[in-house]
Amino acid sequence: MADIKSIDELDAGGKRVLVRVDFNVPIKEGKVTDDTRIRAALPTIQKLIDDGARVILMSHLGRPKGEGYEPDYTLKPAADRLAELIDAKVAFSEETVGEAALEAAQALNNGDVLVLENLRFDKREKKNDPEFAKALAELGEVYVNDAFGSAHRAHASTAGVAAYLPAYAGYLMLREVSTLQGMLEDPRRPFIAILGGSKVSDKIKVIDALLDKVDTLIIGGGMCFTFLLSQGKSVGKSLKEEDWVDKAAAMIAKAEANGVEFLLPSDVVVADSIDAPTEVKDVSADAIPDDMMGLDIGPETRKRYAQAIADGQTIFWNGPMGVFENQLFEAGTREVAEAVAANVDADSIIGGGDSVAAINKYGLADKMTFVSTGGGASMELVQGEALPGVEALKG
Ligand code: 3PG
Repeated sequence: MADIKSIDELDAGGKRVLVRVDFNVPIKEGKVTDDTRIRAALPTIQKLIDDGARVILMSHLGRPKGEGYEPDYTLKPAADRLAELIDAKVAFSEETVGEAALEAAQALNNGDVLVLENLRFDKREKKNDPEFAKALAELGEVYVNDAFGSAHRAHASTAGVAAYLPAYAGYLMLREVSTLQGMLEDPRRPFIAILGGSKVSDKIKVIDALLDKVDTLIIGGGMCFTFLLSQGKSVGKSLKEEDWVDKAAAMIAKAEANGVEFLLPSDVVVADSIDAPTEVKDVSADAIPDDMMGLDIGPETRKRYAQAIADGQTIFWNGPMGVFENQLFEAGTREVAEAVAANVDADSIIGGGDSVAAINKYGLADKMTFVSTGGGASMELVQGEALPGVEALKG
């Protein structure tokens, strides 16, 4: 990324450094329940502290209305968690911009940290309003973006602010972009992608893009039923998107034309209900009963998929194979996670979102080569789209 300045090129000592992080973390009863994203930003934060910078952190949390403070979306718990993880003074500003925030920023000593309140309490953030971007820029002397998870958003803090301050990429941003780009541009082969999740419509662009890159594409999750439908199978009460059947068929045809092995479930776990199942059984993908729905990939499919995964040298995974939150329908996701973890020779890259929740559930995160902190952002990058948060850093 020759056109982006790294934080290593920044002489940060004594300077007020405005850093966009992605502290959009789950919070329950005022406590952070998963601090992965906070930990992922620590190398950048620690480097700035060690350099004697005055570190001002800004982030969004959730999707508040944008009309001021909402207690459920305060960033205070994230600031408290950060204070537990680093050896530095961490202050919190209840104002995101304006007089009080400016005073708090100016009161920092070298090596101190200030966390600003949720950017999205102000609706100008998501509108990428230039006045808001300018108000943010006034708080710092230089800008660092380390929020890969938000890099697909063209907001004031991820894009607009870069027009007013010298801009640098943090370590997390650099590592995310170079890992995902490296995977697409120069993968070790065979390159295998595993895609799950409920809807074809959500994943169609990423399927389309990956069919130009991979050797094998493995499909699971609710979206497999639209593909099965496109092959003339009946899928009972399973999730399906009838409007996307032609597109699904076109993807299978594209795989054939490109010589990509396209794997679909040959058997599935079906039940009569998702919330209160009274009957659960394994059936062939050719024989899904009219009154039942598929909720996971079946045992034969799990074996086929694990065999394919064992052959991979580069493995990219996004999206669960079934309703893994329910023990009855988790075997597919768990066995795929275990198969990826077991292939220790491969570069295994987990593309954010629910697949990260799955590998955490099974305690396999440290067995993966790289776990992305960005769900939407990693998908857009893999789709070949320019990320506004990255583009804004280009000089
Ligand atoms: C995410 O969790 O994907 C990022 O933090 C972006 O959040 P958003 O989808 O609310 O913009």
